Amino acid sequence: MIIVGGSASMDLAKELASILECDYIQAATTSFPDGECYTRIDRESLDDDVVIVQTTFPDSKLVEMFLLQDAVRRLGARTITLVIPYFGYARQDRVFKPGEPESAKVMCQHLDMNCDRVITVDIHKEAILNYFNHPHKDIKAAAAIAEYFKAKGIDIVMSPDIGAAGRAKMVGDFMGLPYDHLNKTRLSGTEVRIAPAEADVKGKKVLIVDDMISTGGTIVAAAAALREAGAAGISVACTHGLFLNNSLERFTGASFDSVLSCNTLNSPVSHISVARLIADALREAKEGKW
Ligand code: R5P
Repeated sequence: MIIVGGSASMDLAKELASILECDYIQAATTSFPDGECYTRIDRESLDDDVVIVQTTFPDSKLVEMFLLQDAVRRLGARTITLVIPYFGYARQDRVFKPGEPESAKVMCQHLDMNCDRVITVDIHKEAILNYFNHPHKDIKAAAAIAEYFKAKGIDIVMSPDIGAAGRAKMVGDFMGLPYDHLNKTRLSGTEVRIAPAEADVKGKKVLIVDDMISTGGTIVAAAAALREAGAAGISVACTHGLFLNNSLERFTGASFDSVLSCNTLNSPVSHISVARLIADALREAKEGKW
C-alpha cells in the first residue's frame, strides 16, 4: 500500500503511513500563474494499492483531488482508495429550493469516476455516501474524542442540538459517562438560539461535542446556556474545525474553557488525531471485511 498525501491533508497522511508502515508520497502541488492547480506525483509508476488522503475543502483542494486521482490512475495504481477527512459540500445534500443543485451528489458522482473505495470521517449526512457506487465507509471520530478526554475529569457529554445527540451518546458511551443534548434554533447563517439547559449540569464539567464548528455561533451559544445553568467547566470538541471568520480569535471571552478539533482540517487546535481509526478501516478493507 502507498499513501499519497494531498496538500490539504499532509500531516494526517504522513501519520497514517507511519501507523501502517507503508510508503508515503507527498504530491507536489503548486499553482499556475493564473491560479489553476498543478500537481505531480514524483514516480515513474505506482504498481500498488494507492490511498489518496485529501480533504476536499476549499474548492481548490477538491480540484487537486480530481487531478491526483487521474495522476495516480495513469501511473498504474492497482486500486485507488480515497480518504476524504472532511468532505466539502456535504451540507447541500438536497434541493432545498427549486433551481438549486444537489451539490453533495454531484461531488460524489465526480469523485466516484476514478476510485475503487472511499473513506470519510463524520460526513454531515451518512446517506450522501450512497451516491458512491464503490464501497464506502464513514468513520466516527467519537472514539478518538473520547480517548483524548478520558482522563480530563469530564462529568457529562452534551450536544448543542438534538441532531448531534447520537454523537454525544457515542462519546458518552466510550467514556462511560451520561450524555444529553441542548435545543438549538437556527436564526440565520451565523446566529443561533439555544434554549436554557434542562440537564442538571450545576457544578459539573461538561464536554460539548459537535460534528463541525463553522462560524462558532453554535458552540458560543451552547456554552453560554450551560454556564448559565451552573456548569463548572466547559470543554468543546468537534470533528471538523472550519473556524470561519477568525472565529478562534473571537472565542476569547466565550463561556467555554477550551476548544479542540480533530485533524480532518488543519488549525492551531487540531490536536485530536483520527489517523488510527482510518488506519483500522484501511486494514479491514485489505482483509476484505468491507
Ligand atoms: C449543524 O448541523 C452542525 O452540526 C453544526 O452545529 C453547525 O454547522 C455549526 O455551525 P456554526 O459553528 O456556524 O454555528
